[in-house]
Amino acid sequence: MFDNINEQHSKALDDIVKARRTVRAFSPDAPRKEDIKSVIQAGLIAPFGALAVAGKSDFRKVIVIPNSSTANVTAASIIQSRFRQFADELEKKIGLAPFVQNLRRVAQQGVPGIGNAPYYIVVGERKGTPPVAAQSISYCLHTMWLKATSLGIGFQLVSATIQMDSDPEFCKLLGLSCGDYALDGCALGYPAENYEPPHVDYPVYDKSVAWL
Ligand SMILES: Cc1cc2nc3c(=O)[nH]c(=O)nc-3n(C[C@H](O)[C@H](O)[C@H](O)COP(=O)(O)O)c2cc1C
Repeated sequence: MFDNINEQHSKALDDIVKARRTVRAFSPDAPRKEDIKSVIQAGLIAPFGALAVAGKSDFRKVIVIPNSSTANVTAASIIQSRFRQFADELEKKIGLAPFVQNLRRVAQQGVPGIGNAPYYIVVGERKGTPPVAAQSISYCLHTMWLKATSLGIGFQLVSATIQMDSDPEFCKLLGLSCGDYALDGCALGYPAENYEPPHVDYPVYDKSVAWL
């Protein structure tokens, strides 16, 4: 069917890239630990800002928090109370703007992806100069996302995690030295039965691309 191995790889990658979607409703059936491990292993070999972390071997950390663990409940509660505080502080400055309303919603209803998915996973990337830790985490998470997709495992970014990098209680829970790591997170689990992601109008080639 394929002329060569490159075509085969390219077709497989195209299929996975097209199948990648955000999953926001999960089955309670947890994926196998080996599969979660292989998703994380894919993230560990994603690109990183080498100059920013030169000389450091502990520049990327991954913390797995199963939803059956007490750590999961603690993480959710720390984030909710932190978001309540953020909302109070910000509302005094800018009023009840949409962003403040979103903070309040998370503070009241909880963080989507924490508690309703079998795994909440936090990625920490050591901060350095130039300040590219956030970008490095995105590469790590995106590689995990593609690997999860290839295994039929659903993925949801949990961006609320980003705000928690200087929270002593949260960093202590993760076992990371506070302030040294940028954070981001995701939820992993099989999509709920009959889950259909919403329609998204992605940019189209003819309108979005210029060749100079
Ligand atoms: C930087 C960034 C942060 C995001 N944070 C969240 C999040 O916290 N929760 C969530 O459900 N989706 C989050 N998303 C997912 C986007 O909403 C989603 O990718 C977009 O709507 C396109 O849908 P798709 O992922 O199904 O293609 C985030 C995406 C990006 C790029």
